[in-house]
Amino acid sequence: MAMTLMLSPDDAGIARAAELLRAGELVAFPTETVYGLGGDARSDRAVAGIYAAKGRPSFNPLIVHLPDLTAAEDFAEVGPKARRLARTFWPGPLTLVLPLRPDSGISPLVTAGLETVAIRIPAHPLAQRLLRAFGGPLAAPSANPSGRVSPTTAGHVIEGLSGRIAAVLDGGPCAVGLESTIVLPDPSPVLLRPGGVPAEALEAALGEPLSPGGDAGKPTSPGQLASHYAPEAALRLDATETREGEILVGFGPVRGALTLSENGDLVEAAARLFATLREADRLAGPGGRIAFAPVPDTGLGRAINDRLRRAAAPRSN
Ligand code: TXA
Ligand code: MG
Repeated sequence: MAMTLMLSPDDAGIARAAELLRAGELVAFPTETVYGLGGDARSDRAVAGIYAAKGRPSFNPLIVHLPDLTAAEDFAEVGPKARRLARTFWPGPLTLVLPLRPDSGISPLVTAGLETVAIRIPAHPLAQRLLRAFGGPLAAPSANPSGRVSPTTAGHVIEGLSGRIAAVLDGGPCAVGLESTIVLPDPSPVLLRPGGVPAEALEAALGEPLSPGGDAGKPTSPGQLASHYAPEAALRLDATETREGEILVGFGPVRGALTLSENGDLVEAAARLFATLREADRLAGPGGRIAFAPVPDTGLGRAINDRLRRAAAPRSN
């Protein structure tokens, strides 16, 4: 494929991105969580192209992005708990897994043949403008090669996917920095992936606890595979001091060559996590080692620790 275009975040860039998407091409775009690799969710060819560009196992279903709840109701059934969560957290970093409408027109490659569909309404103004200009559902996984660190800048997208996708809409760095929280809301809410909306906030809105997800009998998601978000270097967690030859990433009182947040601020740490993993990987060099200071397991810390555990997991390749 030809060189990947870098599109500017203005009317012309958005119009060009929408035109490419209508032609079945792939365009990466910013959301408040991470950059997504967008393609027309109704087109088998576009969706197959997403799996191919990422090198993603095709049994892992994709998230469908839409501009608002009204649009979501054209594709999925919104139950009572889903509606409550949608009203509280959409647009924003929350994905709801909902029953797919039989007449949805969504490619079965998006849902990997499941009878449910994951729907997200991103809050990022450029994502909103692109969705409205395109006028349809966009399937979009994170815009990185499968198993690697998710992109939080347009430059990260280019590093991983240059030459494999038509364009990237450049919206600067992502504010949240971690993927969306994924919830199966009805009939009894299940947390499938911790993410940008803390579980505590969801439980407060629902007035009931979320049960832990990741049912081993179900098709696994890449976000649920043990080794994911993997840097090149080996990773050690809960480190409080630097060992010989290691790059230490600090948090709060633990100081390292890099830090997620000197003040121990979880919002800042989430926003910096993936860019810091990339920077630590670069500093560690080939065969290098990275250590991370402990991060508290509350609020966004749960999603940060989830990603760090997966980044540290033994690799299958
Ligand atoms: O923040 C995000 O969610 C980003 C941005 C681009 O929106 N997207 C993202 O997509 O993280 P991806 O493909 O990397 O992760 C999608 C997750 C996977 O873990 C997948 O298994 C799960 O969504 N998923 C999709 N459809 C599902 C379904 N019907 N049932 C259960 N899980 C589903
Ligand atoms: Mg991903």
